[in-house]
Amino acid sequence: MSFDVAAIRAQFPILDQQVHGRPLAYLDNAATTQKPSAVIQAIQAYYQRDNANVHRGVHALSERATAAYEAAREKVRALLNARSVREIVFVRGTTEAINLVAHSWGTARLRAGDEILITGMEHHSNIVPWQMLCERTGARLRVLPINDAGELCLDQLPTLLNERTRLVGVVHLSNALGTINPVAEIIRQAHAVGARVLVDGAQAAAHMAIDVQQLDCDFYATSAHKMYGPTGIGVLYAKEALLDEMPPYQGGGDMIRVVTFERTEYNELPYKFEAGTPNIAGAIGFGAAIDWLGSFDMCEIAAHEQRLLQEAVSRAKAIPGLRLVGEAGHRATVLSFTMEGIHPHDLGTILDREGVAIRAGHHCAMPVMQRFGVPATVRASFALYNTSDDLDALFQALERAQAMFA
Ligand code: ALA
Repeated sequence: MSFDVAAIRAQFPILDQQVHGRPLAYLDNAATTQKPSAVIQAIQAYYQRDNANVHRGVHALSERATAAYEAAREKVRALLNARSVREIVFVRGTTEAINLVAHSWGTARLRAGDEILITGMEHHSNIVPWQMLCERTGARLRVLPINDAGELCLDQLPTLLNERTRLVGVVHLSNALGTINPVAEIIRQAHAVGARVLVDGAQAAAHMAIDVQQLDCDFYATSAHKMYGPTGIGVLYAKEALLDEMPPYQGGGDMIRVVTFERTEYNELPYKFEAGTPNIAGAIGFGAAIDWLGSFDMCEIAAHEQRLLQEAVSRAKAIPGLRLVGEAGHRATVLSFTMEGIHPHDLGTILDREGVAIRAGHHCAMPVMQRFGVPATVRASFALYNTSDDLDALFQALERAQAMFA
């Protein structure tokens, strides 16, 4: 499929609506993306024709549901270029993936005196599970700081990494700043001291190609709903050797081979980590989103979104009193800013009245706000269906807001 934004927008029924009497300009894609008809129809078709539980039934519907669920796993494997579907664990989303690693891998491996290194631009989901793990084990949480542009201070990495570092948690594409981090280099340095690396790819997967073998990351987490798929489904990729050694995260049906009251033998990978009836429809929707996204050239998507970001940055810089938060040299899809004299939440409400959907707040990254000395920012975040018309709506609404507060 060629990259034709009008044709792409036609596949998103939700975009064709008025909000408060204005055409919707949806610029809150870092929070969640909209879903194309292909994804909505895949979920509907599953419920209309094939709905049954997976891995359990001998009947035709269960076989169809199982086949569709496992076909989705293969699509996720191919998306990430994992070696095997045994390395692909379906979870609720990035947050659950990170909690799974912290509980299963972390509790078994960490001891008092060990260190976990994260960065100053992590989402709360890549901070709090590690803090909780530190409380359980006596390990220490350390933080790689960020500079004024919103880039990691990589010169401090060799000092912070040491023989006590067991794990490095790093975001691939920052939800609050848009920074794209040099994760391959961080992984290389972390491995040199024997640390494992978890990459939070929640924001990345819709905007760049991911290759876990090339990155050589130990864990990679992402969510379907930020890449045109449904909510409530995501993936934990982990190297098979690690998953093999890790104890189950939750107990229940499907994660077992044999249960007696004396002992339980766990199921093979990846089912050992998928207790209970999974989000079957979600996985199928995730697979449909991967198919849909795969019909475009990722380089064309990135180039389109980069053009929008560059246009947005230059228009933003022309507005007096507007401060950009996050100006990394290598960044994508996020325009985060404050405006003098207007609280971001007030700005968010005014923009909404103009049909412009953005996020105003701390973006679940309070330490980033603290680093930049702001309580919150306004964040416009772009997807492949956004256009210059959306930017016109955003900047006209910002001018009106400034006029109201003048
Ligand atoms: N993590 C999501 C965001 O950045 C919810 O908005």
